[in-house]
Amino acid sequence: MFAGWPKAPSFDEAFAVQRIKTLRAFASLMAVSTAVHAADPGNPEHGAAVFKKCMICHVVTEPVNKIGPTLNGGSGRVPGKLIDDKYSRAMTECGADHVWDEATLTPFLAEPRKEVRGTKMAFVGLRKEQDIADVIACIKTCSPSVQ
Ligand code: HEC
Repeated sequence: MFAGWPKAPSFDEAFAVQRIKTLRAFASLMAVSTAVHAADPGNPEHGAAVFKKCMICHVVTEPVNKIGPTLNGGSGRVPGKLIDDKYSRAMTECGADHVWDEATLTPFLAEPRKEVRGTKMAFVGLRKEQDIADVIACIKTCSPSVQ
């Protein structure tokens, strides 16, 4: 008997395969768009330029304190802990339950005096989200020696 052509997928099978393909394409699209959003890691070179606004008071590349504490190794540090007796009470208290990382630095750098009420940091804040992301990238990578 004639064996016939390999069985063509039925309409249902073909439809299911198509649906899986579409779902996969959709899933990878979602993955890409979340990745792009979550990535946006900040550009340390541009961050170094933004850091000029901080430089009257802070050094980032070396562990040298000025009016403000060095930001060398600033990410991962407990707020208000680096130098004894120099910080405001507000900053020391902030250190009781915070660590400096993207999640805490972002709102602080946008509005320092709102985020840590009573801080001695006399700086109005950075307006652009990208500047904040970039300066945080600089705090992380422009200060590798004390990480
Ligand atoms: C006019 C001076 C001044 C400027 C400008 C300034 N800061 Fe500060 N900064 C301070 C002082 C003073 C403190 C300590 C605040 C306190 O004790 O309340 C501080 C604290 C900090 C802390 C917490 C450090 C720690 O050890 O807990 C970070 C982070 C920080 N500044 C980042 C920045 C960044 C980034 C900029 C620029 C976008 C900036 N500062 C601009 C004076 C300044």
